[in-house]
Amino acid sequence: MSPQDTESFNPAAVIVLAAGAGTRMKSRLPKILHPLGGISMVGHAVAAAKGLNPERLAVVVRFERDQVAAHIAELDESAVIVDQDDVPGTGRAVQAALAELDARATVTGTVVVTYGDVPLLTTELLTELVTTHQRDHNAVTVLTAVLEDATGYGRILRDEADGTVLGIREHKDATDQERRIREINSGIYAFDAAVLREALKSVTTDNFQGEMYLTDVLGLARNDGGRVAAVVTTDRWQVEGANDRVQLATLGAEHNRRIVERWMRQGVSVIDPATTWIDSTVRLAEDVTILPGTQLHGSTTVAGGAVVGPDSTLTDVQIAANAEVTRTHGSGAVIGEGAHVGPFTYLRPGTVLGADGKIGAFYETKNVTIGRGSKLSHLGYAGDAEIGEDTNIGCGNITANYDGVNKHRTTIGSGVRTGSNTVFVAPVMVGDGAFTGAGAIVRKDVPAGALSVTVAPQRNAEGWTAANRPGSISSAAAEKAAAHDAAAK
Ligand code: UD1
Ligand code: MG
Repeated sequence: MSPQDTESFNPAAVIVLAAGAGTRMKSRLPKILHPLGGISMVGHAVAAAKGLNPERLAVVVRFERDQVAAHIAELDESAVIVDQDDVPGTGRAVQAALAELDARATVTGTVVVTYGDVPLLTTELLTELVTTHQRDHNAVTVLTAVLEDATGYGRILRDEADGTVLGIREHKDATDQERRIREINSGIYAFDAAVLREALKSVTTDNFQGEMYLTDVLGLARNDGGRVAAVVTTDRWQVEGANDRVQLATLGAEHNRRIVERWMRQGVSVIDPATTWIDSTVRLAEDVTILPGTQLHGSTTVAGGAVVGPDSTLTDVQIAANAEVTRTHGSGAVIGEGAHVGPFTYLRPGTVLGADGKIGAFYETKNVTIGRGSKLSHLGYAGDAEIGEDTNIGCGNITANYDGVNKHRTTIGSGVRTGSNTVFVAPVMVGDGAFTGAGAIVRKDVPAGALSVTVAPQRNAEGWTAANRPGSISSAAAEKAAAHDAAAK
């Protein structure tokens, strides 16, 4: 067997190891499905792998197999799901994947191995690993890091004289002297496929843990005359795995710090990076300003000149240029150019606010299209509705869209002015240029240009307080007012 000669950069395959149980998470959710920065840990691993443009991608599963397999199929439907059998160990996992891929078409060239629980690893670092591997015609290239505390990791054994990599010793199998080595095995490698296939045949479970160690491949490849080398990274975060929720949160914070920094370098003002959380899937434009306490999730996009926050949580929200979204909790909404939302506003899915429109304080909206320049300024609910342009919806208006069984639509035209506390009892239509009076209960359609009022005559019962609340603060106040009036006459 000889290392591949090709200079082609794309690896033949990436194998992501994800069969472990992740017991330290203490979770019903499989470890690698826990999210970080808006996507699962294995989602990060698959994204970094796909960035290499491999010919094939395999993911090795075992624990909670069906749930993990379904998730991976969502991430990449062409990914090959490989089941690991009862034989434990990273060597067995890779052997199973290689056999599965070979059964379809023999793998030749570079095989990259990564882990499903190392979420900060980037395509850039993998690229460095693969290019070094191919440039130097290595049999194996391992990604390593030098740590202050290397406890638990496999240690890189190097030749004392020339420093070449001899092999890897697992912590549990290491001598006291070997345990003093601080260069660790990240578990991420580039292999020549033929070398890997051949060496795995000789890997046994004859070690402290009774597992097939993938790490044994390095020594075997070297004994067979192959070049074994390391790429040492100084960015330890990229090789760190999350085994429990403390590590997950630590990695999550670092991941976020990197994302926020990247956006700042691309022209986004982030006033307080520490309290700003941005998913890796979010897109921001130059000259966006993010105020403190803001979380942007999912497919949220913000266009230039828009100001978001403080204290806003937005998921899958599209914000156009120069809009302002203040203290808002929203999902699935579209905010037009120059529009204003908030403070204290709840945007539910299907909310579409037109350019220069406004959804103000203490408003809840759902499934509502609001035309250009229309304003819903204070205290209300608008759901299952369509509102035209330049309409002003008064304070406290409500679309009564639910009859207890079904939802109904409210259609309000353009140039409409509604009085405070108008209730639209859907299904109902209000024509262009119509007005409603304060407290109107609109049960019937209102023609264009009409005024709709609900007239309930007002009656004042004179002297009621003195008769019904004698000796109260109110009756004293009423008595004083009466005396004042009498004196004025
Ligand atoms: C492994 C390495 C060690 C390295 C460390 C880095 C071996 C023998 N040791 O140790 O040198 O320093 O990673 O974190 O490879 N997995 C499977 N099937 C298995 C066992 C593991 O798919 O049978 C997967 C796990 O899901 C995980 C990865 O392989 O993603 C590593 O497994 P883990 O048990 O954490 O390996 P370590 O013993 O920590
Ligand atoms: Mg581990």
